[in-house]
Amino acid sequence: MSGGKIMLVGIGPGSHDHMTHRARAAIAESDVVVGYVTYIKLVADLLEGKEVIRKGMTEELDRAVNALERAREGKKVALISSGDAGVYGMAGPTYEVLFQAGWTPDSGVEVEVVPGASAINACAALVGAPLTHDFCSISLSDLLTPWPVIARRLDAVAAADFVVALYNPKSGRRTQQIVQAQHLFLRHRKPDTPVAVVKSAYRRRERIEFTTLAHMSECDIGMLTTVLIGNSNTFVRHGLMVTPRGYANKYELHGDGSTREGERPGRSLSTGLLGWMENLRADHAEGQSISALALRHKLPADYIEAVLTAPIVEVTPEAASTEESEA
Ligand SMILES: C[S@@+](CC[C@H](N)C(=O)[O-])C[C@H]1O[C@@H](n2cnc3c(N)ncnc32)[C@H](O)[C@@H]1O
Repeated sequence: MSGGKIMLVGIGPGSHDHMTHRARAAIAESDVVVGYVTYIKLVADLLEGKEVIRKGMTEELDRAVNALERAREGKKVALISSGDAGVYGMAGPTYEVLFQAGWTPDSGVEVEVVPGASAINACAALVGAPLTHDFCSISLSDLLTPWPVIARRLDAVAAADFVVALYNPKSGRRTQQIVQAQHLFLRHRKPDTPVAVVKSAYRRRERIEFTTLAHMSECDIGMLTTVLIGNSNTFVRHGLMVTPRGYANKYELHGDGSTREGERPGRSLSTGLLGWMENLRADHAEGQSISALALRHKLPADYIEAVLTAPIVEVTPEAASTEESEA
């Protein structure tokens, strides 16, 4: 048993104010701190008396190997990542190196992942509240992921109306990925969809630019930029980008008297899945075909068929009263 430990520490976006208490404590209790040179600079004042291993940008696996070597010597090692170590950070590569080296959770080297505020959280906070509904992130870095895979994901999330954070949007060599992303998004989203371009969030050169999907690729975008693309409901008001949570429309009819997808007049939109299933069965019983329903709801016909043939689930008044809060 070595008694060593690897702490995969997310140091947050850059400023000490946005580093967690646990991240700071993990660095304080470590004997060795390993990280990319820029991240080491961000925590320079916390490093006194520690062995510091500075690595270049492409040396991720080396950082993990060094951390394991020192931990096997019985040392406590803080392996630092910006933002969150598990979001395009060192947590994954480190576990891969550990598994390859035959490490198991009880083989003498403890591992702790210390969460941090990722760029998506930091940038969202700076521009308002763009992530209040479903969102996802996509890295435009094609160094480790083939471009067609990235392009398919961009196309899918653009069509699915997610709010999207683009990490690694551009570098000196990778200049066309953001143009391609814009092209794919414009196939599904309006040109005036709000976009926020956030550079160096919570760092010295912080810069925020509001633009639209049509002009996104013309913005000043670099290695330390995250691009936030709104969904079809996202708006900008008083310099703040906001995606509605949905409450305002919860019981609303459209102006023309029609209802929203799959709902019937007079019915609360909060009926959700069960209400939708009930309406679907009613529409089918009234003669609407499975293919017509699939087209109307933009869902696969075999899924519609599965819903129509699923057993009916009754919600008891007691179960309904225990509905959880969504805030
Ligand atoms: C290799 S990823 C690391 C992500 C990091 N682990 C996180 O959770 O934020 C690097 C990318 O994160 C984003 N990023 C990191 N720090 C940022 C900051 N302070 N402001 C804006 N974007 C940032 C940029 O998109 C950058 O290209």
